[in-house]
Amino acid sequence: MNFETVRVGLGDRSYDIRIGYGLLAQIGIFCQTAGMGGNAVLISNPKVASLYRELVVKSLGSADIKVTDICIPDGEEFKSSDTLLKIFDQMIDAHIDRGAFILALGGGVVGDIAGFAAATYLRGIPFIQVPTTLLAQVDSSVGGKTGINHPRGKNLLGAFYQPQQVVIDTETLDTLPEREYISGLAEALKYGISLDNELFVYFEKYLTAILDRDKECLKQIIMISCKTKACIVEQDEREGGLRAVLNYGHTLGHAVESLTGYTKYLHGEAVAIGMAQIARLSAQRGYCSAAEADRVLQLISRMGLPVELPQFTVTEYENALLHDKKKLSDGVKFVFNQGIGNYKFETVKDLKELLHSCGVRG
Ligand SMILES: NC(=O)c1ccc[n+]([C@@H]2O[C@H](COP(=O)([O-])OP(=O)(O)OC[C@H]3O[C@@H](n4cnc5c(N)ncnc54)[C@H](O)[C@@H]3O)[C@@H](O)[C@H]2O)c1
Ligand SMILES: [Zn+2]
Repeated sequence: MNFETVRVGLGDRSYDIRIGYGLLAQIGIFCQTAGMGGNAVLISNPKVASLYRELVVKSLGSADIKVTDICIPDGEEFKSSDTLLKIFDQMIDAHIDRGAFILALGGGVVGDIAGFAAATYLRGIPFIQVPTTLLAQVDSSVGGKTGINHPRGKNLLGAFYQPQQVVIDTETLDTLPEREYISGLAEALKYGISLDNELFVYFEKYLTAILDRDKECLKQIIMISCKTKACIVEQDEREGGLRAVLNYGHTLGHAVESLTGYTKYLHGEAVAIGMAQIARLSAQRGYCSAAEADRVLQLISRMGLPVELPQFTVTEYENALLHDKKKLSDGVKFVFNQGIGNYKFETVKDLKELLHSCGVRG
């Protein structure tokens, strides 16, 4: 066997995540073992399709699976209701019925919108996630959050809808642009800092090989990340409480993204800034030592990710934080790190004080 399996245990909605190098050529067999056959709706974008569509279609063909192609434009701005309706139009035109399944081939944008299409078309048809960015492989393809953006905010419309299987071919990372790759690493590191000390230490020890995209290192990081996420999702599928731990570094990260108009930083870069600031704040609050916070900052910097907040006023940051979905009536819920590899929730009422502690002025 040239792949590893991580199981997401959710009763009758349980599924496997397959992780290995070169798995796209076996995608037809994976679909069959997940009980899928007949017609597949292959949703992708022009860039990913030009690289990997042929391989996937050939493998599906050898498993007697017929393919209907849907290509959506590349970019976060196309994770929209407009694109979703166009997907439905093409599915209806192709007479796709409940016997078919969707196969999402691409990064988080394709995975989120294809998953939402699967959740809602004919009140739900099965789908398979085939993530091709590191961010999608360690995070968005696992856990069942699907959705689209609304002009007034990101990810405001969606559904919890689990895939039948996730097939992660780490070979697809060979073509990923460097900046996207490093940004994806930030999401994997998030699990290390807030949930898994061993993963953090693995990053420290093998960083050079990881930055060189060493096959074995990638398999390890993706496998541990998926296991960690699966473990949280199994306990709190619909984010009643615990699942919010996966937002480590994200509350400040989202503020950075929104203040900079979603253009200056990639998502993982903004999260890296958020994680660095939270590590410092965790030390100030006594949740971790100064030395531990320093290790977090050093590692983030060594990865080539940013650590400092861009310059905006306290009021601007405060407004951005208050618009985040994680806002509660009595404050904003933050995830701090308890040492390295553990977390601590704290609802912060005095945002000004927190922002001053991060060195934000004005
Ligand atoms: N559902 C969840 O739980 C969850 C979690 C985190 C993020 N997300 C969502 O994920 C999205 C971001 O995902 P992303 O970072 O993967 O961005 P993306 O899907 O936009 O992909 C980034 C870029 O990489 C290209 N690409 C993809 N695979 C490639 C490959 N193998 N080789 C070369 N280029 C490739 C894409 O075409 C795109 O240009 C956001 O919409 C975010 O909201 C969802
Ligand atoms: Zn994220």
